[in-house]
Amino acid sequence: MKKLLAILLALAMVLGLTACSGGSGGETTKAPDQTTAAPQPGTTAAPTGEKVGVAMPTKDLQRWNEDGANLKAMLEAAGYEADLQYGANDIPTQVSQLENMIANGCKVLVIASIDGDSLGTVLAQAKEKNIPVIAYDRLIMNSDAVSYYATFDNWLVGTKQGEFIRDALKLDTEAGPFNIEFITGDPGDNNINFFFDGAMSVLQPYLDNGKLVCKSGQTEKAVVATANWATDAAQSRFENILSSNYADGTPLHAVLASNDSTALGVENALASSYTNDVYPVITGQDCDIAIMKNLIDGKQAMSVFKDTRTLASKVVEMVDALMKGKEPPVNDTETYNNGTGFIPSFLCEPVSCTVDNYKELLIDSGYYTEDQLK
Ligand code: BGC
Repeated sequence: MKKLLAILLALAMVLGLTACSGGSGGETTKAPDQTTAAPQPGTTAAPTGEKVGVAMPTKDLQRWNEDGANLKAMLEAAGYEADLQYGANDIPTQVSQLENMIANGCKVLVIASIDGDSLGTVLAQAKEKNIPVIAYDRLIMNSDAVSYYATFDNWLVGTKQGEFIRDALKLDTEAGPFNIEFITGDPGDNNINFFFDGAMSVLQPYLDNGKLVCKSGQTEKAVVATANWATDAAQSRFENILSSNYADGTPLHAVLASNDSTALGVENALASSYTNDVYPVITGQDCDIAIMKNLIDGKQAMSVFKDTRTLASKVVEMVDALMKGKEPPVNDTETYNNGTGFIPSFLCEPVSCTVDNYKELLIDSGYYTEDQLK
């Protein structure tokens, strides 16, 4: 089954079946054109055997396992060797993995960082050796060694979550007030600035006019952050919030959770420490299998689907272009400043997932089988 999936993925990539959005700035460099004489990923003209370092943050979360496996399969189908490493959410481990990749002759590095601020020194070594660096999903900050960034439109992820809560609670027409609590991810992950601020751009006006009330008073990003996006930390923070603010029968109407691993902690806390008949509207992101089961059971209202196949295939196009001295595809050059300037980016499109469209998004597209969600 795994093998078949890998072959299908590779085939999809070779055929250029990518579904990334046009993004805000329009695609400034086209994806490799099938009609030109240029060698395509996966053909024998690809420089065979060149090594690509792929650094992923952790195996703990389902999505990074998928990202890593997709990247490896697609790179190999395109004729490259992939050195895939997982950093166990430990910064020194990721740094030493990158040092090894550089020493072992990797020609391009693809990095989903654990902490976007901690790779400056090791990436200076990459720059010295002219090894291009592609920041994968999470932007690497304050390093001029970052050549490109491939991710999903993270602001759009946040606004979709905020809009979902606004619409589910009918904030523009119902009198309210409604009680809401907040949770986001790791403070070292630049993505939370886009997820959380994007959602707040929708919800803050309702906090300001009193239609939304946060009983715990915890609305600041630094306060609602969760180290390593950990489910157990999310759960214990919410157990405290529930016992201090909702134990007297006060209803909780909504929880803005930036992703599925934190949403899962919230749902676990609700199961153990909340008895009100009003069950909150909870957001998430990633369409993790554990969460999809909760979503189907009505314990989470929405997630955001980020098709990791699409992102991986776009990154393989980028790698292939770099290996061949061509311009990698980008569609945004003015959103992601890593402190050294704007990083040319490719933003893929996130899609809202609910109980109404999950079959079409996840099962019909072959992302999951029906059995996996049972
Ligand atoms: C990713 C999310 C993921 C989170 C936790 C973020 O950087 O964009 O998809 O849920 O990290 O791993």
